[in-house]
Amino acid sequence: MYSKNKSTRISNPDVDVAIRSNSLEPVPSHFVRRRMVGLFTVLAILSVGSSNLAAQKSSSGGAAAFKTNCATCHGPDGSSDTPTGKSMNAPDLRSAEIQKLSDMEIATVISDGKNAMPPFKNLSKEQINSLVKYIRGLASKK
Ligand code: HEC
Repeated sequence: MYSKNKSTRISNPDVDVAIRSNSLEPVPSHFVRRRMVGLFTVLAILSVGSSNLAAQKSSSGGAAAFKTNCATCHGPDGSSDTPTGKSMNAPDLRSAEIQKLSDMEIATVISDGKNAMPPFKNLSKEQINSLVKYIRGLASKK
């Protein structure tokens, strides 16, 4: 009932003419509609662009993931200078010894674990990649 009322209102030629003659610059309704389509196209392009930007910034997501999953043992700075890290003999992630590992090797240790280090099966490939990038960034902060 409601939608029927609405559609008769929109397609009512009298109302259409009334609206047109009331406005200073009469704009045909089909022209307005085309401009709306244009606006939505621009919005769609913008939203695709911003999601690309978010993907590029995923290395900053590495900091959060590191804090949540790794800092207990490896410390927020990767030094592993924490009670748990020390008791487990966790290595300094900033050291040359760890930094010489390939991205692939680091990613495998994160997903599969190594000796006392637990595996992180819950992390996505993207999260692991951003963690590897984050570990690379720690080295320059030593
Ligand atoms: C429960 C403590 C613990 C947590 C949590 C932990 N680690 Fe470890 N990590 C260790 C220990 C212990 C080692 C040493 C393993 C070995 O070489 O025997 C290690 C080793 C590593 C290494 C060096 C691997 C190698 O081949 O020498 C990297 C890189 C690393 N951890 C990254 C991470 C990242 C990234 C996270 C978070 C997703 C994480 N760790 C979470 C304890 C932990």
